[in-house]
This record gives sequence, C-alpha cells and structure tokens, in this order.
Amino acid sequence: MLVLGIETTCDETACAIVKDGREILSNIVFSQTNIHEEFGGVVPELACRRHVDVLIPVIQAALQEAHCDLQAIDLFAVASQPGLIGALLIGLNAAKTLALSTQKPFIGVNHVEAHLYAAIMSNPDVHFPALGVVLSGGHTHLIKMHEIGNYELIGQTVDDAVGEAFDKVAKMMSLPYPGGPIIEKLAQRGDPYSYPFKAGTVKGRPFDFSFSGLKTAVLYANPSTSEKSNLAASFQQAAFTDIVHKTISAAQHFSCKTLVFGGGVTQNQALRKLFSEKGCQFLQLWPSGNLSLDNAAMIAGLGYQLFKLKGQSDLFTHDAGTTLPWTPKF
Ligand code: KG4
Ligand code: ZN
Repeated sequence: MLVLGIETTCDETACAIVKDGREILSNIVFSQTNIHEEFGGVVPELACRRHVDVLIPVIQAALQEAHCDLQAIDLFAVASQPGLIGALLIGLNAAKTLALSTQKPFIGVNHVEAHLYAAIMSNPDVHFPALGVVLSGGHTHLIKMHEIGNYELIGQTVDDAVGEAFDKVAKMMSLPYPGGPIIEKLAQRGDPYSYPFKAGTVKGRPFDFSFSGLKTAVLYANPSTSEKSNLAASFQQAAFTDIVHKTISAAQHFSCKTLVFGGGVTQNQALRKLFSEKGCQFLQLWPSGNLSLDNAAMIAGLGYQLFKLKGQSDLFTHDAGTTLPWTPKF
C-alpha cells in the first residue's frame, strides 16, 4: 500500500511516499529556517505563505523521487494537529483535495504521535508497553505506549518545551533560530559543570518537567558577555540530566522495558550519549537520521498504521486542531 504523507504543521513543508508503513520511497523536506532565522522564532504568517508557495512543488518532487504518479497512491495522510492553525489548514486542504480528486481515502494524523512512530518505523519489533519520550520544539511528554494508537500521558512540561528552552537560550546569546543545533555545537567546547544549573521539579508530579527556571538562570548568568560555550554546556547538561533521570524513573515505575524517542531534540548526540550511559538496561529506539526533525515520512507511516486499525477520516468533518493523542493520567 502506497501512502502519500503531507506535513505543514510549523515551518517545514514536507511530502513523502511510504510503502506499507515502513519503506520510505521518498522523503522531501523544504525547511523554512532561513526565513524565520532573523526573527528568532517562527513567524506564523510567513510560514503559511511559504507553505502555499512550495507545497505543490514539494508534492511533485516526492512523487518524482518515488517514481510514481498520483493514481498509484492508495491513501493520503496529513498531519492535521497540533500546530499553527493556518499552516495545518494548508496541508489538510491539499490532502483532502488530492483524495477527493483521485477518489482515494484520506486520513488525518497527529504530528506528536507521528514523532514517536518515526522511531518505530525502522524498528518494527518494539515491545509494548514502551515509554515514549517526546522532545521537540513544542512538546516535552512522557507517554506510556500500550500499542500504536493507545497511549497514556504520564508526564509533561508545565512551562517551556525542551526545544523551546534551547531556542530561547540561544536567543539570549544572540544566536540564530533554531537554537538546538548551535547550543549542541557550542557545548562540545564547554565545561558542563561550570555553572550549577538545575532544571525544575513539580511538587507531587515526579514525571513532569519545568525548564523556565533553568532558562532564567541562564539569563542571570549574563549570556551576552559570559563565555558562551561553558554556558551552553552547563545549560544542556542540566536539561538532559533532568530528562534522563525522569525518563528512567518513569520507565521503572510503569514497567516499560523499551524507550521510544521522538522530536527534533533527539538529534542531539550528547543526549543520546547520556541515555546510552545511564539507561543501558532499556532497549532504546531512536529515530534514524532524517526522521528526528519534522518530516512527512513519519506522517505517511503512522497514517498507514492507523488506517489499518481505524479506517479513514471523514473528508467533510475532519478538521485541523490542537489536541493531543493522549489524555492525562492525573
Ligand atoms: O520536532 P521538531 O522538528 O519540531 C517540533 O515539532 O517542534 O523540533 C524542533 C526543535 C527546535 O526547538 C530545535 O531547536 C530542536 O528541536 N533541536 C535541537 C537539536 N536539533 C533540533 N535541540 C537540541 N539539540 C539539537 N541538536
Ligand atoms: Zn515536530
């Protein structure tokens, strides 16, 4: 079964063709980073305008690279939530139009759920229950994954997402957006223990996160004049130590033997190294190379799995939204 996936939730315009939920035939990502860089974050209206400009060429490029035409596609999948509402609508309407005009089914999937599927895509032998760890620019979640499509939220950030904290700290240091990769690079040259930073804890909620205090501590360390690599290394170390600690205790508490990672922050090699040192008793599934950041292969892949489980979405009632695929535990 050939699935065409579309991703326009934020500042990447992406289209991919995936066979049977796993085999990636093409995976085109048009990144808008250069447009938003100078503003220190994503400007929604600019993101939408660029999605409109490039979405059709991106779809054409994905079809061309996969050596197929629209008629060969069996299912159109799109990330229909959560994200910037205008951006979501562009991808959603494109997918609906393609489905309607080719008389093929359509399915809307959740972008955050797809980030977790990205790691499963190349590791089909995942044993459930697994602990899903979503570390992106918009979300920081610990999820008990009972199976694909059945999740329970066990921890989340009460303020900034971890990627957002990286982006804001980079901005404090007058570094461009997105901050994550630049902070990682700077941190390689710094001493991670030069500043006594710590991420926050949430009273009575051992698996929740808080990064806003850590961010303020960086601000008080005078990021425009201080030695940037030491500051970056100490910030990164504090954020990741907290994530590793809470992830491992959640996995033990909820009897999960496998960790499934997703989201742009999982690109970070220091994070992967820390998990391999501290969490070696768990099987760790990480998204392969180009599947950490926003992409449409994970959308097409998850679309296939959910279509098999639940069937298609309704073309006329399925809307763009902001909901998540899990409900709180407490
Ligand atoms: O998953 P993603 O592409 O988009 C969202 O769904 O949010 O994640 C983007 C986030 C940004 O905040 C970016 O700074 C962060 O991932 N990021 C990183 C790294 N690469 C990207 N954070 C830390 N280290 C990195 N190497
Ligand atoms: Zn994302």
